[in-house]
Amino acid sequence: MKGIILAGGLGTRLNPLTKITNKHLLPVYNKPMIYYPIECLINAGIDDIMIVTGGNNAGDFLRLLGNGKEFGLKHINYAYQEGEGGIADALRLTEYFSGGDCICVVLGDNIIEKNIRKYVEDYKKIGKGARIFLKEIPDAERFGVPEIKNGKIVKIEEKPKHPKSNYAVTGIYIYDNRVFDIIRTLKPSDRGELEITDVNNKYIEWGEMTYSILDGWWSDAGTYDSLLKASLLIKETGANKF
Ligand code: G1P
Repeated sequence: MKGIILAGGLGTRLNPLTKITNKHLLPVYNKPMIYYPIECLINAGIDDIMIVTGGNNAGDFLRLLGNGKEFGLKHINYAYQEGEGGIADALRLTEYFSGGDCICVVLGDNIIEKNIRKYVEDYKKIGKGARIFLKEIPDAERFGVPEIKNGKIVKIEEKPKHPKSNYAVTGIYIYDNRVFDIIRTLKPSDRGELEITDVNNKYIEWGEMTYSILDGWWSDAGTYDSLLKASLLIKETGANKF
């Protein structure tokens, strides 16, 4: 399985912090944000990693991470997203890198407390379809929200005004290689982006979506409050623990 970290976007919700740098280079407690998704993948046993970034600061990732020696890696792959086409548009750029393999995608601003290795191993046994990770939260309307009937996800809505459950779809996804065929069929949403939620809904339509509820805490770090919350959680308990 290949690992993919999506670290593009303008990070406008964090302005002016993101005026002169990429969101994923900002500090979260004692490390740059991008360190956490890298550790998440490595702890899960995935060490063939591509980082997709964009904007004016793309070169700073190379300066910061180099070939990934600090993480015990021999090399890191990089891709450059032109424009602001959304998460699924960024993912599109990793098709060649994936080489027909399954992929574990982590959004660069998603941080978790515990290791996802057992879920990754579990997926590999079947190696087909999609697996997403849910977390019960009080403010589901900020995220992709699943509607669950008889233990099955029947649909995901992106940032709904009236969420159909108290769960967020976290920014960690496992897909088989058909994800790239799905992306080719997508149309931009109202916010002008190719949405990862549309990708997930296609797998649901096919009856090939499974999910796990994440152990431990999960936080995004893309708003002032969640960035602060993530820093405090890491200070208290640490992240990416075995
Ligand atoms: C994205 C996804 C959303 C998901 C969230 C997790 O939202 O579109 O479905 O719940 O990441 O962090 P964004 O951060 O782009 O608003």
